Amino acid sequence: MSIDNTMNKSLSVVVLISGNGSNLQALIDAAKEESYPARICAVISNRSDAYGLQRARDAGIIQKVLSHRDYAERESYDQALMSLIDSFNPGLVALAGFMRILSEAFVTHYSGRLINIHPSLLPEYKGLNTHQRVLDSGEEIHGASVHFVTLELDGGPLILQSPVPVLADDTAETLAARVLKQEHIIYPQAVKWFAEERLKLVDGVAMLANKGED
Ligand code: GRF
Repeated sequence: MSIDNTMNKSLSVVVLISGNGSNLQALIDAAKEESYPARICAVISNRSDAYGLQRARDAGIIQKVLSHRDYAERESYDQALMSLIDSFNPGLVALAGFMRILSEAFVTHYSGRLINIHPSLLPEYKGLNTHQRVLDSGEEIHGASVHFVTLELDGGPLILQSPVPVLADDTAETLAARVLKQEHIIYPQAVKWFAEERLKLVDGVAMLANKGED
C-alpha cells in the first residue's frame, strides 16, 4: 500500500520448524499487523508431517520440506539447508521448535541473525523435557527464553525471558501450555526489536537499544 508500509516490512524472516509450529503461528499473527516490521518469507521443516507447514500454507507463506533423512551427515544436510535458506535472502533466521543440532558451519554462517526460543529460564534447563525436569526438581519458577544461537547448545546470549510460576497441581502438559503462552508473546517481540535494528549481537552480547518504547 503506502511506501511506509513497504518499508515497515523490510526484514524478511525464514522460520525453521519440526512440529506443531505454535510459535510460528504467533509470528504469523504478529506479522499480519500492518505496523509489524517483519515478514515471514518462508517456512522450512525437516519433517514432512510438521503441522506448522499447514499453518504456513493457510497463511499463504512458502513452505519447504528438507528431510534430514536424505543426507548421510549433519554437515551435508546443513549445507543444503543453508542453500535453501539463502535462496530466500532473509535478514533473520528464527528457529521455532526446529529439533536439530546445528553444525558449526551453519551457526557461524548465520552468526548474529539466528535466534531460538527455548522453554526454560536459560541457563537453567538446557536441552529437552524441560517442563518435567522443572517439576521433578521442585522449582517454583519456570519460563521461556529467546536467545541468539551460538555453538553452545541453548547457550547463546539471552535476548528476552518470561518467568512462569509453577503451580502445585501442574503436570508437564499444563506447565508447557502456560510457558507456550509466554513464548508466543516474547518471540514476536524479539523479532520486532531485531527488525527495528534495536537488537543486535555485538561482541557476543545481545544489545538492545533503548528508544523509550516497549
Ligand atoms: C517450544 O516449546 C519451543 O520453545 C521449543 O520447541 C517448542 C516448539 O513448539 N524450542 P511449537 O512447535 O512452536 O508449538
